[in-house]
Amino acid sequence: MNDTVKKLLIEQVNKEFYSAYLYLGMANYYIDNDLDGFGNWYNIQAQEERDHALLFIKYLQNNSVPVPLEAIERPDQSYASPIEPLQKGLEHERYVTSLIHNIYDAAYSIKDFRTMQFLDWFVKEQGEEETNADSLIKKYRLYGDDPKSLYLLNQELAGRVYTAPSLTL
Ligand code: FEO
Repeated sequence: MNDTVKKLLIEQVNKEFYSAYLYLGMANYYIDNDLDGFGNWYNIQAQEERDHALLFIKYLQNNSVPVPLEAIERPDQSYASPIEPLQKGLEHERYVTSLIHNIYDAAYSIKDFRTMQFLDWFVKEQGEEETNADSLIKKYRLYGDDPKSLYLLNQELAGRVYTAPSLTL
């Protein structure tokens, strides 16, 4: 595998684990502030990010690339209000999309079709992640200021269940 593509894929493992850590911090914030449904939503999001990291590891290992694990950065866990994690979540997903596109770009430039095919799933997934994050912000703006509506939104988010990624390697 090309050195640049390899380096970017290995770095992405850490970025995905950081995403899991960031969302775990958000889940903790909501649980500490009595919004356990929001906490559930972000706990499941954290599980999905861990899955993403494991998929990158598996892909690298399938290509006989050893994967050194680096330290995971401490996420910011101080939020001024319940809408802030939602906004930071969308911002973060847009950043992750740019990372995926950057790896895709590197793979494309050297005709690494196998890596491009692997990344196709992530390109689609990022579209969904951004839509979900944006939709949470919209819902919070509509319902967050009214206690009864916020209670119902919290209940809705409590219903999110974990599903394993549709991509298998
Ligand atoms: Fe692994 Fe939320 O992107």
